[in-house]
Amino acid sequence: KTIPATLIAGDGIGPEIMASVTEILDVIGAPFDWDPQRAGMDGVEHAGNPLPAETLTSIRRTGLALKGPLTTPVGGGFKSINVTLRQEFGLYANVRPTRTIVPGGRFDDIDIVLFRENLEGYYAALEHYVPADGDPQGMAISSGYTTRKECQRIVRYAFEYALKNGRKKVTLVHKANILKLLTGLFLEEGRKVAKEYEGRIEVNERIVDACAMQLVTNPWQYDVIVTTNLFGDILSDLTAGLVGGLGMAPGANIGSDAAIFEAVHGSAPDIAGQDLANPLALLLAAGMMLQHIGRQDLDTRLQAGIDKVIKTDKVRTRDLGGTVGTRELTAALKQAVA
Ligand code: NAI
Ligand code: MG
Repeated sequence: KTIPATLIAGDGIGPEIMASVTEILDVIGAPFDWDPQRAGMDGVEHAGNPLPAETLTSIRRTGLALKGPLTTPVGGGFKSINVTLRQEFGLYANVRPTRTIVPGGRFDDIDIVLFRENLEGYYAALEHYVPADGDPQGMAISSGYTTRKECQRIVRYAFEYALKNGRKKVTLVHKANILKLLTGLFLEEGRKVAKEYEGRIEVNERIVDACAMQLVTNPWQYDVIVTTNLFGDILSDLTAGLVGGLGMAPGANIGSDAAIFEAVHGSAPDIAGQDLANPLALLLAAGMMLQHIGRQDLDTRLQAGIDKVIKTDKVRTRDLGGTVGTRELTAALKQAVA
């Protein structure tokens, strides 16, 4: 085990699905040397802090983390731990792959990778309220910003991914007809970057609302999508919905010095501790982490095992219409990847 990596089990179903994932990774000989750390309610309860300094130090050292879902503690002016981590480590790219694994749903054969700019746009939260004497005159103002540097960086990241992974087409999603500067800049820089890949990767442009409609009517026309923060947040939940929802949706937050991999779903307190949780989203995130360190071979083995268990043998947890629990699915997956 030669690659140091931070392991945050997290809250709710976090410890159950993380145990499942690390057992499966052990079977395939994944080279991660885990440094277990706390965050979320687990951090509050055992270290008095939802994001303890030791956890940040560990990620700074390893530059690599697998993170379970974190419950946001109720009350107080508490800032989202996910947002804090993105800013702290400059995690500029949010990567959300969507692939049909369970056939027979509304959409078969979906295979889309969405890249969302993770630091700028309206999520910079530059907001203020302009009070007025009479309430109807009160007004909320929000400013977003985009920099040429970040637009180039996220679009280039998407094109490089496309090239490395044998993808054919990248679609730039924007609203430059209305937000002429905020997303116009993204389109302008995106076109410049796309030119560097001419003849190798096809480039497309879509206005975000039309893109949302087409993702539902004809999602197969999409291959790689790259877009700004707000649009990417919404469209990536849409694409997760195309393939069976949150239990199947992994995500990665990538920066130049660190990368954090996670399931898209939360801590699912309603089913925690009952052996009901689906570990697949976190397992797929671990697969992305293997790709990130250059071990495509291990990710391929993982994907083949998942396909066998879920598609062929139809061993599925309840959220996928099956009957098995976390432990039984884990045992089947361990056998399939061995
Ligand atoms: P949730 O994603 O935890 O649960 C929504 C529904 O999906 C629940 O019915 C749950 O049982 C089900 N579900 C989620 N993951 C599942 C899995 N792996 N297998 C089977 N069923 C699953 O969202 P919710 O309830 O809104 O949030 C719960 C807590 O999680 C909150 O404290 C929230 O702040 C936090 N959260 C954390 C995230 C993160 O750390 N990345 C992301 C989203 C929410
Ligand atoms: Mg979201």
